[in-house]
Amino acid sequence: MAVQPIRLFGDPVLRTRAEPVVDFDKELRQLVRDLEETMLEAPGTGLAAPQIGVPLRVFTYHVEGVLGHLVNPVLDLSTEEQDGLEGCLSIPGLEFDCIRAAHVVAAGRDMHGEPVAIEGDDLLARCLQHETDHLDGVLFVDRLDRTARKAALKAIREAEWAGAPAPAIKVSPHPTFGRAL
Ligand code: NI
Repeated sequence: MAVQPIRLFGDPVLRTRAEPVVDFDKELRQLVRDLEETMLEAPGTGLAAPQIGVPLRVFTYHVEGVLGHLVNPVLDLSTEEQDGLEGCLSIPGLEFDCIRAAHVVAAGRDMHGEPVAIEGDDLLARCLQHETDHLDGVLFVDRLDRTARKAALKAIREAEWAGAPAPAIKVSPHPTFGRAL
C-alpha cells in the first residue's frame, strides 16, 4: 500500500456517497497515509478517499505547505463567495471557473478520533468544499452554471483519458501544476 491509482471521471465510485468512518484504527491511518502519498505524488492540493476507490468520509489536503487530513467533515460556509479556477485529479488537465464560499470552517476528526476544526479562506476554503463534495458523490463540474457545465462536459468527453477502464492510470497524464484537487 502506498501510491494508489486515481479514479477518473466516469468511475461509479466518484458518484457514490461515502460512509462515515466509525473505526479509528490502523486501517484508517494507512488510508490517510495512502491519500497523502498519492496526493503529493500527483501532485495535488487535495484528495478524497473515493478518488482512490475507498468509499469513506476522509480526505487529505496540501495547501500552502500545510499537509493535513480530515475525517467525517461537516462544513460551515460563509455567504460571501469567491470565484476562481478549479481542477480535479479525477478530471485531469482541465480547469474551470467555479464559485465557492469564500470562508469555511470544517469540523471533523483526525485519524485518531480527536475532534478538530480547520478554518480557511481562498484555496484552503475551496479545497475543503471540493473534497467534502467528493464524499457526497459531487464533482466540481456539477457546481458550474449551465453554460460552463456544458462546455466542461464536452471537454471531458474529448479528453484523451475519457472512457478508459478504471482504474485507468496511475499518474495524471497532464500537468496539474499542483493545483488539482
Ligand atoms: Ni477532485
